[in-house]
Amino acid sequence: MYILGIETSCDDTSAAVVHDSSEVISMITASQTCEHNKFGGVFPEVASRMHCENISRVVNDAIKTSGVKTKIDAVAVTCKPGLIGSLLVGLNFAKGFALTRKIPIIPVNHLKGHIASLYINNPNLKPPFLCLIVSGGHTCIAKVETYTHFEVLVKTLDDAAGECMDKVARALGLDYPGGKNLDMLAKNGNKFKFSFKTPKLKDYNFSFSGLKTAAKKLICDFKNKDIELPIADICASVQYNIVQYLVNNLFVIAKKNHSDDKKISKIAVSGGVSANSFLRETLKTRCNQEGFEFFEPDLRYCGDNAAMIAVQGYFEFLEGNTGDFSINAKSRCM
Ligand code: KG4
Ligand code: ZN
Repeated sequence: MYILGIETSCDDTSAAVVHDSSEVISMITASQTCEHNKFGGVFPEVASRMHCENISRVVNDAIKTSGVKTKIDAVAVTCKPGLIGSLLVGLNFAKGFALTRKIPIIPVNHLKGHIASLYINNPNLKPPFLCLIVSGGHTCIAKVETYTHFEVLVKTLDDAAGECMDKVARALGLDYPGGKNLDMLAKNGNKFKFSFKTPKLKDYNFSFSGLKTAAKKLICDFKNKDIELPIADICASVQYNIVQYLVNNLFVIAKKNHSDDKKISKIAVSGGVSANSFLRETLKTRCNQEGFEFFEPDLRYCGDNAAMIAVQGYFEFLEGNTGDFSINAKSRCM
């Protein structure tokens, strides 16, 4: 089965053609990073307009390069959560495409898409497993029970981990989105130079706003005193504290689920921040030490992309979860 995936939930216009559950035939993504860099973050109205400008070309290019133009069986599209104006561009395009081709439309939850990104390069990964989903908009630990059902066990109560890294990076004067730059600069820094407190919350939920504020205050203090910013040390310390926080809470939850009836012995990570080299390395080491099998997405499929939406679309289709033309976009998960 060939599925066209469309993803426009934030600032990437992406289309992909995927065969069954994991064979990516083509993928084209138009990034808007340069436009949003001027504002230091995603400007929703600009994002919607750029999706409008890019969507036809991106979808046509993905179909053309796939070489299976006439064989597309269904279109899967992100319908929630995300920026409402951005989601609507992809959703309405997908509706038009499905209507003219007389093929089914499959609405896909963006978080399920991030989980599905793991199936592309991990043929041995099958539910149940625990997944740490870390991106610019989301941070949660999900129990993936089946290919189409997951339960959020804990989540951030304020900022997402990626958002926190992006805001600290911005305060350091790095380009948006700063997570990737922070990761690179951290390689030459001392991760123990500054320590940032992370709160222990009930049920092991996360909160990143305190760390973000403390890091921004530290940067301000250096600037006010006219002292040269120890950029690499700040990057390394912020990254270290965020990763330790994520991984420590994850392992408390993992051990609890491992000892429950339905033993979960597999841990995965996904979302834009799963590209972070220190997070990947730390998770790999901890999983080895604690006897869990570890899975990570290929770097191409960590950030927002349409291949993961098409893969999830395949599993939703098998469950009969297709939609009709009354599907609407939702900014939230529910
Ligand atoms: O999944 P994604 O593309 O969009 C959302 O669904 O939010 O994630 C984007 C986030 C941004 O915050 C970006 O800074 C972060 O992923 N990111 C990274 C790295 N690469 C991307 N954060 C840390 N280290 C990286 N190497
Ligand atoms: Zn995402």
